[in-house]
Amino acid sequence: MRYLVTGGAGFIGSNFIRHIFNKYGSDAQVVNLDKLTYAGIRENLAEYEGKKNYRFLHGDIAKQEDVAEAYKGVDGTGVDVVVNFAAETHVDRSLMEAGTFIETDVHGVLVLLEEARKHAPKLRRFVQISTDEVYGSIETGSFVEGDPLNPRNPYSASKAGGDRMAYAYAQTYDLPVIVTRASNNFGPFQYPEKLIPLFVTNAIDNQPLPLYGDGKNIRDWLFVDDHCAAIDFLIGKGENSETYNIGGGNERENREITFKILEILGKPESLIKRVADRVGHDRRYSLDSEKLAALGFRCDTNFDQALERTVRWYADNEPWWRAIKERSAEYKAYYDKQYGAK
Ligand code: NAD
Ligand code: DAU
Repeated sequence: MRYLVTGGAGFIGSNFIRHIFNKYGSDAQVVNLDKLTYAGIRENLAEYEGKKNYRFLHGDIAKQEDVAEAYKGVDGTGVDVVVNFAAETHVDRSLMEAGTFIETDVHGVLVLLEEARKHAPKLRRFVQISTDEVYGSIETGSFVEGDPLNPRNPYSASKAGGDRMAYAYAQTYDLPVIVTRASNNFGPFQYPEKLIPLFVTNAIDNQPLPLYGDGKNIRDWLFVDDHCAAIDFLIGKGENSETYNIGGGNERENREITFKILEILGKPESLIKRVADRVGHDRRYSLDSEKLAALGFRCDTNFDQALERTVRWYADNEPWWRAIKERSAEYKAYYDKQYGAK
C-alpha cells in the first residue's frame, strides 16, 4: 500500500508510520508531508531516512503545490491512502492565537480534499483524523457518532470544521472518506506541553506539576499504539462516509493521572501545584466506541502498564525532551503567565 501521511513528524503521525513499517515492512511506501512547526520533529523517524520506501517532504497541507507534490507518492506513481494527522493540536495554544488553527485544521483539510478529487478514481481511502473534542463536554453517558457537535474552544472548533469538510466532500464528490474521533492519546514522542509528558518531565526535574482548577476534569486515555492499530484497521474495514469513535476506555480524573506519575517516579505529592483553571475547560470527554467494536476492533492495552511504559520512555529519553523544552521559551513564558501558581 502507498500511503500519504501528513503530520508524520508529530506524536501520533510518527507512531503511525512506525506501526505501518513494523507491520507491512517493504510492502508499504510512505510519504510524510510535514510543515515542521514547533511540534514537528523529523528525527522522530530518523531510522527510516534514506530508505527507498520512505520519503520526507517538508511542506504545508494548506499549500496546493506542496500537497500536489505529496500526492505523487514516494516514487511518482501516486498514493492509495491519505491519512491526515497534520494539525495545530494544543488547546492552550489555541487560546493564545487561533488563526493558525483555522489555516491548518480547516483550510489545510480543504486543500488535501481538493487534491484528492483529482486522484479520486485511484484513491482508496482518505482518513481525516478528528477528535473527541468536537462533541464538547459531557457530564454523564458517552457520545455516539451521530450526536450533534458542540466544540467549545478554538482548537476543537477548528477540528470540527475539518471533520465536517471531509464529510461534505464524501457526500458531494463521492470521495472515499472516513472520519475518526479519538480520545486523549498518550505514549512515546508526545510533545511535552501535553498533560502526561509535561508532568513526567517536570517531575523528573523536581519542578512543579501545574494542575488546572480542581484537578477533577476527566479524559479517556488511549495508548497511542491502540490508536494506530485502530486507524490501520479502519483503513481496511471502515465504510466510506462513516465516522468512528476510538476511545481508550480509560476515563480518569487529571489528579489520578498526576498521582500515578508521581508514584511511578517515586516523587513527592508536594510537587503538585494547583493553578488557575483553563478558560472554557471541558469537564469530561467520553466516547461510545461500539461502532468500531462491532466491526471487530477493541483496544486491548492495559492502562496502568502502558502508563508505566510511557513514563519509563521519557525517563530513558531525556535528550529528546530536554532539547524540545529548551527551545519552547516563548510558549513557556505565556503558559507561566496564564497559569501562575495559586
Ligand atoms: P502533534 O502536535 O504532535 O503533531 C502535529 C504535526 O502536524 C506536527 O508534526 C506538525 O509539524 C504538523 N503540522 C502542523 N501544521 C501543519 C501543516 N500546515 N502542514 C503540514 N504539517 C503540519 O499532534 P498529535 O497529538 O500527534 O495529533 C495528530 C492528530 O491527531 C491531530 O489531527 C489531532 O487533532 C488528532 N488527535 C490528537 C489526539 C491527542 O490526544 N494527541 C487525540 C485525538 C485526535
Ligand atoms: O481529547 C483529545 C484531545 O486531547 C486532542 O484532540 C488534543 O489534540 C490533545 O491536545 C488533547 O487535548 P486536552 O486539552 O484534553 O489535552 P491536554 O494534555 O492539554 O490536557 C489534558 C487535561 O489536563 C485537561 O483537562 C487539562 C489538564 N492539564 C493540562 C496541562 C497541559 C492540566 O491540568 N495542567 C497542564 O499543565
